[in-house]
Amino acid sequence: MPLPRLRLVALAAGAALLLTPLAPAGAAEPGSLDALAAAQGRRFGTAVDDAGLADPAYTTVAAREFGRVTPANAMKWDAVEPRQGAFSFARGDALVDFARAHGQQVRGHTLVWHSQLPGWVAALPAAQVRGAMENHIAQVAGHWKGKIHTWDVVNEPFNDDGTFRTTSPFYAAMGEDYIAYAFRAARAADPDAKLYLNDYNTEGSGAKADAMYRLASRLKAQGVPLDGVGFQVHLATQYGFPYGMQANLQRFADLGLDVAITELDVRMPLPVDAAKTAVQNDYYRRAVEACLGVTRCESVTVWDFTDKYSWVPSAFPGQGSAALYDEQYRPKAAYDAVRQALGGSTTPPDTRAPSAPTGLTATAAGATSATLAWQAATDDTGVTGYDVYRDGARVGSAAATSYTDTGLSPSTAYRWTVRARDAAGNVSAASAEATATTAAGGGGGPGLVVQHRVNDQSATDNQIKPGLRLVNRGGAAADLSRVTLRYWFTGDGGSSAFSAWCDYAAVGCGAVREKVVALPAGRPGADHYLEVSFASGSLAAGASTGEIQLRVNKADWSAFTEADDHSYRVASSYADAPKVTAYVDGVLVHGIEP
Ligand code: XIL
Repeated sequence: MPLPRLRLVALAAGAALLLTPLAPAGAAEPGSLDALAAAQGRRFGTAVDDAGLADPAYTTVAAREFGRVTPANAMKWDAVEPRQGAFSFARGDALVDFARAHGQQVRGHTLVWHSQLPGWVAALPAAQVRGAMENHIAQVAGHWKGKIHTWDVVNEPFNDDGTFRTTSPFYAAMGEDYIAYAFRAARAADPDAKLYLNDYNTEGSGAKADAMYRLASRLKAQGVPLDGVGFQVHLATQYGFPYGMQANLQRFADLGLDVAITELDVRMPLPVDAAKTAVQNDYYRRAVEACLGVTRCESVTVWDFTDKYSWVPSAFPGQGSAALYDEQYRPKAAYDAVRQALGGSTTPPDTRAPSAPTGLTATAAGATSATLAWQAATDDTGVTGYDVYRDGARVGSAAATSYTDTGLSPSTAYRWTVRARDAAGNVSAASAEATATTAAGGGGGPGLVVQHRVNDQSATDNQIKPGLRLVNRGGAAADLSRVTLRYWFTGDGGSSAFSAWCDYAAVGCGAVREKVVALPAGRPGADHYLEVSFASGSLAAGASTGEIQLRVNKADWSAFTEADDHSYRVASSYADAPKVTAYVDGVLVHGIEP
């Protein structure tokens, strides 16, 4: 278990700073939006809907970038009390559990609202609405008591012209007083939660903002437990940026209230284009800057962070692309604009390690080498390579998903693991271990290596012309009469009768025998091999046979396709060839068979 991360929390009431350990850690990962906001004493949050919680790609980003979450729907009246007195908290509980597991705060949304309100409330006799409302608040805020940082107690009390929504069942039954009753009931049910009024189109100056300002002033004057005012800030590129947003937020703060941006998004008429995107980036940036410009603006919350779950396309047909991330969770330019506004670099430092490689297999390739293969690892910025460990020590690296480990001892068991790397140098956990035991040496076998080069110009003509060299890297002389070599290839149709030739050998073609052998069953990259053996002789430790130039053709001189042959290498100079095999007394001592 990692140590709990220390998070810097600015106290709303003053300049004092506290270091509070938060466990378990999860949100405010270094470089995240929330970490940038935290460095300025704020929180950065997001709305989260039920579908997102079930989507691992979603929860990864939600947990990494955000320090506070607001249920998009799960705590609304129709979700928690669909029938009078019948409460269901499961959806909200799931959100609270997620937040707790990732060290995040929860913004409760919302206790009293005219929308997403089950029909039974409006159908009550007017005299029963207050009781139903106060019971709803007592049950709901009571259920999550101590787990909610902030409640939107009353949502959207105003019409756009600044008059009260008189059609709300609550206003219809109690007039404006419903608001004070609701706040008092909320304070009684959860004394530690911050209690907010919340509305849209109140962020810029205008009649609706003035109405909210007068309401907040009255509630304060009456001693109603109001802690803050939330501004939804649902913006659109086809409209202007709200006029005087920072000054407007500031006048609420000057009443002794906290303020917050609670539902930020910036939609645009589709299709997306560069001009609209530029406006969107600008609006996101200015909204965040307006909050940062007001000391008591304590958080910015986006109304979901990905277009995949944004409410915009269904609420505003023909509009969309409102969120910071696209539907594939790729951060958009707006994300960079927000990061910049928060004082961060646009590219967060890459701190995430790749996944561990899986499916590692090890196959002994004779007495002195082994071939490893594994499944590609994944990484958010891309895997750049793999490190191979033998018996715990790093022995080499590979750009792709295979590796040939050489210089091994015969008859020895080895263990390998592989780790993936990314460009920032983050290293994955080790893969599961793979083991293999090298073949026995013999006849001076340990250390025999075959080298190869291509001697013909065309891989599609009617002859195969491998050049081979047998090198003895062992400490003892090898008895050549016990050694055979195999070059593996496919006949590619035509005649099944083959001729094999030695065109030149440093040891003399008379000392070399060559023949083509058909396999009983085809293997990947081979249905035949060219076998080379030696009449006699001894290959001293450290010595090489020198070049043996070989040639194969079919009786009908039809063409070969060599590129897919197991032993084929595109190389005009000699190098160790693990796919050309060598044997001592018929036991594989070098290379890997198809
Ligand atoms: C929206 C949700 O995101 C949608 O899923 C739902 O269908 C309608 O409500 N102002 C608010 C939020 O206070 O509760 C609204 O959420 C968006 C506007």
